[in-house]
Amino acid sequence: MVQLMLSARLGPTSVDSRSRCSQTTLRCLTRNHVCMVGGLPCYDPIMEIKKLLRNLDLGSSVAEFDTSLDRYFVETEVFRALTRDKADIIAGEKGTGKTALFRVFKQRYAAIPELDGVEVIAGFNLAGNPVFQRVTSIDCMPEAGYVTVWKAYFLSLVGNWLLELYEPDLTKGMRALDSLLQRVGLRSKDDSAESIFSKLVYLVDHWLRPKSAGVKFTVTEGGIPVIAPTLDFGRSEPTEPSPDVIAHEEALGVLNKALEEAELTAWVVLDRLDEAFQGFPNIEVPALRALLRTYLDLLAYPRIRLKLFVRNDLFRKVIQGGFVNLTHVNARKIEIVWEEEDLLNLFCRRVRDSAEFLEEAGMAGLTDKDLFDGIFPAQVDQGVRKPTTWTWIMARIRDGNGIKPPRNLIDLIAKAKESQLRSEDRNPREYTQNMPIIEADSIRRALRALSDQRVLVVRVANDEQSRRGCEVGPCCALYRPRSPQ
Ligand SMILES: Nc1ncnc2c1ncn2[C@@H]1O[C@H](COP(=O)(O)OP(=O)(O)OP(=O)(O)O)[C@@H](O)[C@H]1O
Ligand SMILES: [Mg+2]
Repeated sequence: MVQLMLSARLGPTSVDSRSRCSQTTLRCLTRNHVCMVGGLPCYDPIMEIKKLLRNLDLGSSVAEFDTSLDRYFVETEVFRALTRDKADIIAGEKGTGKTALFRVFKQRYAAIPELDGVEVIAGFNLAGNPVFQRVTSIDCMPEAGYVTVWKAYFLSLVGNWLLELYEPDLTKGMRALDSLLQRVGLRSKDDSAESIFSKLVYLVDHWLRPKSAGVKFTVTEGGIPVIAPTLDFGRSEPTEPSPDVIAHEEALGVLNKALEEAELTAWVVLDRLDEAFQGFPNIEVPALRALLRTYLDLLAYPRIRLKLFVRNDLFRKVIQGGFVNLTHVNARKIEIVWEEEDLLNLFCRRVRDSAEFLEEAGMAGLTDKDLFDGIFPAQVDQGVRKPTTWTWIMARIRDGNGIKPPRNLIDLIAKAKESQLRSEDRNPREYTQNMPIIEADSIRRALRALSDQRVLVVRVANDEQSRRGCEVGPCCALYRPRSPQ
């Protein structure tokens, strides 16, 4: 196969290059590019490092844009815990892989035997402005009000999804669900998270601000207000709400029953929660505390499960000052942490996905360690007491809590590659084995560039928060070298 590929790459010039090789045997023997033409070894033309590097694609450091993620995803312990339903709260620092985990899990869960009967539903929009931001357009409510919003949201999201799946062959329980959703004005033909949440916010706004001098609701934890039975969003305005409410227990019980009849369990996944209420601390904390409370309440309904992907800092902010039943939450929480071997594997899988680079560099079949050592120099700073390049990188991608997010690793190496390409433009090198493709200088320059970029990002974020009159977040120490070196 390799032979075929190389022969194909050499194409009609293969014989020419064979004769050229015979004249420059010594030089060619230092290379890895050997193919057989007519039973004779043939050496590839001189390979410039610039060309090699251009074929090395490390993907994106943000999961939303990492288009080949499925091909080089590392199935970590957290992935396995999720497939075995060992956790509901997936917590991690920024860039540790929450979105990546969700994206790949959503693609693969259907093929996992343990998850037979489970359906994973995205409870958030994957791109664009986070849908939950819309809640900031309505008046600030006490925590209990947000509990009602979340429960009504999950009822509507899962309920409409189930009804769309089974329509027109609805079971008895599904018909009850259909009628319930109609009564509270939450039946929708479009079951996307964006559409369902937008309609809900519109409805909540109406509860809080009736257009005529009718009954004004206080949105409480009690239940979902019943509105006129003929209400249909998109075709008519909601009529004035009546003071009737359907208790959450009743509504969720109907949904649970309908799911039971379908022999399905719905896992609703929420990610991007940190973006949702950014800049609105007076809404962010009660809304997210209410979400945690809703999570606990939903444990009573075995067919409806929430899976929350949250940033550690946000989680800490939400439980600050105490949270009833925190032990129940913690019992189902798992944290994304990265072992160094997994990070090395994550990098090497990306390199191996660049097939042309691998072939041209003669690195196919190498172990993770040899692959890394084949690309980088042994040390960034020379000296017997100095660390290896891998250890040097690991020390610099750590954040203030000692966590090493893959995003930092990918960013650092991608920047080192860019820097090396610029250096190759100035002083082109030819590739021979045992020479670092990315040099120490490029790694150092990449670190400086990332530090500057990071400081700029934090400054812009802080300016934005100050502009909105919110408290300024702590400056993150990412990429800042840990020693004066
Ligand atoms: N298990 C994995 N295998 C391969 N790549 C991964 C894995 N986990 C994360 N990554 C990569 O690490 C980078 C950061 O991941 P991701 O964007 O999911 O972080 P995040 O935790 O969602 O960050 P944020 O808090 O900013 O939303 C992405 O390039 C992603 O593809
Ligand atoms: Mg993310």
